[in-house]
Amino acid sequence: MWWKTVCVLLVAPSVLGVTELLHNSDFELKEFRPEDGGWYGNGCTADWSSDSYAGKHSVKVTNRVRKWGGMAYNVTLSGSKNYYFKAEIKLLNTHPGSLFTKVQVRTAVYSTSGSVKHALVSEVRFMEPLMWQVIGGDFSTPADVTTVQLYVQITDTDVNYLLDTSTLHEIPTIPNSWRAEADIAIEKYRKADLNIRALGSLPALKDLTVEVNQEKHEFGFGSAVHADMLVDSQYKAYQDFFYDNFEWGVIENKLKWKQMEWSEGHVDYDTALNAIDAMLKHGVKIRAHNVFWGIDENIPKWQQGMTGQTLWKQMERRIQGVIPRTKGKVEHWDVNNENVHGHFYEIGTGDANATMWMFREIHKLDPNVKLFLNDFGVVKDSHSTQAFYDQAMMFKNTPNVPLYGLGIQSHLFPPIDMSVLKYRLDQIVSTGLPIWITELDISEPLEDRKADLYEDVLRLYFSTPQIHGIMFWGFWDGKHSKPVAAIASGQSVTPNAAGQRWQKLFKHDWRTVDQARSLSTGQATIRGFKGRYSLSVKRNGVTLHNEEVILGTGGTNLTLSLAGIGDTIHVSNILIG
Ligand SMILES: *[C@@H]1O[C@H](CO)[C@@H](O)[C@H](O)[C@H]1NC(C)=O
Ligand SMILES: *[C@@H]1O[C@H](CO)[C@@H](O)[C@H](O)[C@H]1NC(C)=O
Ligand SMILES: *[C@@H]1O[C@H](CO)[C@@H](O)[C@H](O)[C@H]1NC(C)=O
Repeated sequence: MWWKTVCVLLVAPSVLGVTELLHNSDFELKEFRPEDGGWYGNGCTADWSSDSYAGKHSVKVTNRVRKWGGMAYNVTLSGSKNYYFKAEIKLLNTHPGSLFTKVQVRTAVYSTSGSVKHALVSEVRFMEPLMWQVIGGDFSTPADVTTVQLYVQITDTDVNYLLDTSTLHEIPTIPNSWRAEADIAIEKYRKADLNIRALGSLPALKDLTVEVNQEKHEFGFGSAVHADMLVDSQYKAYQDFFYDNFEWGVIENKLKWKQMEWSEGHVDYDTALNAIDAMLKHGVKIRAHNVFWGIDENIPKWQQGMTGQTLWKQMERRIQGVIPRTKGKVEHWDVNNENVHGHFYEIGTGDANATMWMFREIHKLDPNVKLFLNDFGVVKDSHSTQAFYDQAMMFKNTPNVPLYGLGIQSHLFPPIDMSVLKYRLDQIVSTGLPIWITELDISEPLEDRKADLYEDVLRLYFSTPQIHGIMFWGFWDGKHSKPVAAIASGQSVTPNAAGQRWQKLFKHDWRTVDQARSLSTGQATIRGFKGRYSLSVKRNGVTLHNEEVILGTGGTNLTLSLAGIGDTIHVSNILIG
């Protein structure tokens, strides 16, 4: 129900504003010559095909002469606007001996000055043949644009393909009122009612109050941490800041295979597990990052060149080593980090679906841990939004792949166009899978500007109901992959302007504290952020009873059964239901 409603609130205006900018976008007309004013075959043969994604026809591309040979479209666009292009593609073959094909969408942008600029819009690095998948992404036009040529580029010229169901439209600019709308969504989706009913005689209830304070959020607010610093007494200020400002932690490096096993067979589990235990002791929940990372420079060095059975055995050993040791301690695992960008294990094993195997094997050993795909370039730029969508949908639609959710890294660099950020996010929201923002940082040197940017981005994410948590990718400029993005600085780990803004949101605006209600009528309602609360019943300021209450989706009804009268009244038998 809430899912449908958010579509109306946040997505529908975009849908209403869509005007299709492409002629013959569905390829139902047999018009593929340049003079037809639509898609045309450029350095290739373009035929009408009846193997279609939708409707009756698609276009079939063969005899490609160069990597850029294929379907192209010349479209006249307005300047200084954002556009989104998408199409369905089906590769008919791969280059002999290859499992995958790299497929790009590119633009040639012509302007009144006569200049031509070529740019990459998006890329699917590892596309499998014989299935329909989406390609595309967004781009912005310069002020003096005349024509934009959109084209599909595939380096392997012997790869033929079908193209269907294309679309090009302007990305609507979200109005300045978006923050107020986001706050309405936050109020609606992040809060619930705590209904308290007191059973007892009314005169006895006259002076009673109930007070609540939120102790934990249901939403995951967290940060990456350095394992060593969490257990080193020299870094007390670092630890204090972390425990005071976050409720979830993810170890930035020391759970990665390469970092745990610099030389083959010598595995350091302790560094990570000591930090995990320290966080658990403080009530912090843990994302684990990552079992595999199939980008060539991030695999253990000793693994380079391994293939086939040798590699499968190593992969089994990794899963059997790390998963039982973290079982019951961690809530999430990133399974094969940045898989959209690296396929070391697929290529090495020769199994295009090796990552699905990883998901299944990990799930067998720890059926409770939630398994994620986690990637970059999904909302930061246009390059991998659609590739991530394609992978998510393929995993979701394949039986017995225990994919729980999607991790969007979100390493952002200004300028940040909120309309475009939201548009890219909405592409991933449309998978219907739970989303976590896993590695948020914003590299902005001006402190006040950085504070505003963090607040805007956090507000957009927190107001999106399909997002269940946001992890910063570090917080302290003394140890940060991008110190300019830090929210705390110096030896004493002092919050900067962005850190103070974070504290205001996390501790105040998005938390329910010190809420008191009279019980004189026998009932009270407190609407608060979902999470765990401490509740106390007081009479004239004196606490009579304390209780832990969970406020979750759908609200919580609490019945207080009161016994005794007059000054000696006490509270007993608290029922939560
Ligand atoms: C596409 O537009 C560019 C720029 O106006 C032009 O140079 C090129 O010839 C056009 N191609 C076709 C096939 O119309
Ligand atoms: C990989 O899995 C997908 C989805 O189930 C399937 O369509 C495809 O054929 C598989 N690829 C290989 C090489 O088995
Ligand atoms: C709380 O009580 C109300 C009124 O009896 C009921 O409609 C609602 O479903 C209850 N909510 C929960 C979470 O039990």
